[in-house]
Amino acid sequence: MKCVKIVDKKKLKVSEIDTPSVKKGNVVFKVKAAGICGSDIHYWDSGEPVGLVMGHEFAGTVVDPGDRKDLKVGDRITGLPISPCGECEPCKSGNPQYCRKTWEKAVGLSLDNSGAFAEYSSCRPDMVKKLPDNVKFEQAAMVEPSAVSLHAVNLANMKGKEKVLIIGAGIIGLMSAEFAKIKGASYIAVVEANKERGKKAVSFGAVKEYYDALDEKTIPTLIEKTKGGFDIVIECCGNGPAVSEAMTLVKPGGTIVLVGVSLTPITVPMVVPVMAEVTMQGAIAYTVEEFEDVINMISKGKLKVEKYIDDIVPLERVQESFERLTSGKDSAVKIIVKP
Ligand SMILES: NC(=O)c1ccc[n+]([C@@H]2O[C@H](COP(=O)([O-])OP(=O)(O)OC[C@H]3O[C@@H](n4cnc5c(N)ncnc54)[C@H](O)[C@@H]3O)[C@@H](O)[C@H]2O)c1
Ligand SMILES: [Zn+2]
Ligand SMILES: [Zn+2]
Repeated sequence: MKCVKIVDKKKLKVSEIDTPSVKKGNVVFKVKAAGICGSDIHYWDSGEPVGLVMGHEFAGTVVDPGDRKDLKVGDRITGLPISPCGECEPCKSGNPQYCRKTWEKAVGLSLDNSGAFAEYSSCRPDMVKKLPDNVKFEQAAMVEPSAVSLHAVNLANMKGKEKVLIIGAGIIGLMSAEFAKIKGASYIAVVEANKERGKKAVSFGAVKEYYDALDEKTIPTLIEKTKGGFDIVIECCGNGPAVSEAMTLVKPGGTIVLVGVSLTPITVPMVVPVMAEVTMQGAIAYTVEEFEDVINMISKGKLKVEKYIDDIVPLERVQESFERLTSGKDSAVKIIVKP
């Protein structure tokens, strides 16, 4: 089958690999939609691991139901890409995101299970979720990143009326803004380094205002506007300057939710959160329940995800789509691959 593989730094290539077969009872599916994620961009940047077929935000139709006796050929599905062991304490308590095995064999994030930038992919039977009839494939490919944002906002423990700052208006930041609004935030602002993305963030409705990360007036203006800082800052970039912005813009006693991932160590002004007794809350993935919540919210029309999709491309245009998403000048946020 046709797929797209990492071959070098910032280089993907359309290649041929074996079509996945049912191993360990996995559900094999024909890919109908797969999102390009900010985390894929980190892999793309590094060029490693060579040979990785990415694509962990997927939807498709069942080709072989494997161990899932309740599924039949042609059923419409999405799934959690993670691969928790099911036996450790976190797994048993409903927190597979803490399981040490979760990412080892994750779909599209490990060489063990090729992802959905391909004609076919496979997913562990217990991680596959059947789609409600009214959820389209493109919407279903948005469930995974939306669940990341729901988890981040849930960890912020909002009571309502908070002032919330989002750093980075990629899909994770924008969906975090959607959930912060649903949870009753009184004011949501975005700080973004890419002007085109910043302006567009406001057009979706949840974000009230956009501030330029590169403008030196941004920090003093926001401190003044919020009378001392935001109750909650959700960091959705994963680099030193962005985490520093978060530390400077949260109010004393406030909470920073760290969602952005840096694969290398970063430098931050540590004295700031220490002196202000800031809570630093990491956020990784989602619980199974949060993933299902997002599917239900989309199905019930409570969460509109299509408006965030900028383009739908075939495998041959994945390389150019990564270049577009990293140009720093394009407003595109989410590109969906349709093999
Ligand atoms: N914790 C998790 O479970 C999880 C899950 C998915 C993605 N992530 C991570 O979350 C981050 C966001 O993902 P995404 O898909 O939205 O990525 P993205 O690359 O599309 O968005 C990041 C945005 O941050 C902006 N930015 C960069 N530096 C900035 C700065 N200093 N100040 C303000 N804005 C800045 C960029 O212009 C970009 O628009 C990535 O690091 C990704 O790896 C984490
Ligand atoms: Zn992702
Ligand atoms: Zn486990």
